[in-house]
Amino acid sequence: MRVTVFVSGGGSNLQALLDAEKAGTLGKAQITAVVASRAGVYALKRAENHGIPSYVVSKKDFAGTAQWEARLLEVLAETAPDLIVLAGYLSILGEGVVNRYAGRIINIHPSLIPAFCGEGMYGLRPHIAALERGVKITGASVHYVNEIPDGGEILAQKAVEVLEGDTPEILQKRVMEQAEWIILPQVVAELSK
Ligand code: GRF
Repeated sequence: MRVTVFVSGGGSNLQALLDAEKAGTLGKAQITAVVASRAGVYALKRAENHGIPSYVVSKKDFAGTAQWEARLLEVLAETAPDLIVLAGYLSILGEGVVNRYAGRIINIHPSLIPAFCGEGMYGLRPHIAALERGVKITGASVHYVNEIPDGGEILAQKAVEVLEGDTPEILQKRVMEQAEWIILPQVVAELSK
């Protein structure tokens, strides 16, 4: 199963997928391409280190959303994925891509959906919201992508304890280590069977 991974930042979830593939625990899935929403992100270095072709498709480089989407579809015609994984990807895909790959796009979100998700809830924000609300448990969710941010069918979730003295950064790291980097490869492996 050919997988194209979309990234926007450090790429630690991409790395978890690459490590799983190398360890033989990604089922029949192969990470065959990486698409970054901007140049210079460390996720591109991770792709390079694994000899995986990468593309930069940055919305700001295009006259409008339609042109940006057309370029994404061009790249996807080239990478020909069976599955698209959004891993720390910060752009909201338009319906052109979502419809063309309906049922074949998944996303990892750093909270237990439906808590702390939706419009604008990315990066540290879900963790800031969790700490502000005082929840004792948070975690991560893998879900199908549809036109509603974080709205698609939930495929997997993993709970993580919130501890005394947690800062958003400490909590984010724990959620990544104990949840994201575990359930994302698991779901990709499952879908590849
Ligand atoms: C992190 O906030 C992670 O929780 C979310 O996207 C951000 C960056 O992830 N999934 P990554 O290190 O680029 O995979």
